[in-house]
Amino acid sequence: MEELKKKILEDGYVINENVLRVDSFLNHQIDVELFNKIADAFYERYNNKPINKIVTIEASGIGLAVVVAQKFNNCHVVFTKKGSSSITDNDFYTTEIHSYTKNKDYIGQISKKYLSPEDHVLIVDDFLANGEAVMGMIDLCNQAGATVEGIGIVVEKGFQQGRHRIEEAGYKVQSLAIVKGFEDGKVILD
Ligand code: G4P
Ligand code: NA
Ligand code: NA
Repeated sequence: MEELKKKILEDGYVINENVLRVDSFLNHQIDVELFNKIADAFYERYNNKPINKIVTIEASGIGLAVVVAQKFNNCHVVFTKKGSSSITDNDFYTTEIHSYTKNKDYIGQISKKYLSPEDHVLIVDDFLANGEAVMGMIDLCNQAGATVEGIGIVVEKGFQQGRHRIEEAGYKVQSLAIVKGFEDGKVILD
């Protein structure tokens, strides 16, 4: 998606060997006009699927998911909650997620009330790094018997393992921008 790529090149900056900050439009301030176009881009890719639910993960995924859901008919958003407790609660589907970026483990949870075999899910997230969050969301959908119709990512870091892991598991990913790497603090896009 050209406009997104332009924005990443203009506003994005690299804070260490593998973290890209895009706070001016995606992770802190939200560029609503751009989000609307991002949602259009996902709609273009997935409108041939019977999607009735967008699944994402708190926090940054939520705003994005809401804008995407508005493009589809009768489509709700369910966001995965993050907890630290390993106590299994019977009312929730739970999955373990390891964040490499934050170097900690957490539990992802979705209430059994909001995900069921009738659901056709589009998983969306702002970033794809090692795919831990996405793999966790796939696991939650599978526990619920819901169908994962697609996985839509705004910024993929192509030099990390996320895409590989997701494809190995038999799912397809669509990313609107792919970062190939960083060179002298500059972002190199695919
Ligand atoms: P992974 O799920 O793909 O394995 O990512 P990881 O756990 O390593 O990343 C932890 C969080 O940081 C995730 O946010 C992920 O989307 C985000 N992230 C990963 N790499 C980058 C990056 O280069 N730049 C930015 N800006 N974010 C990155 P999250 O779980 O959604 O948490 P939240 O920050 O939305 O609360
Ligand atoms: Na994030
Ligand atoms: Na996210």
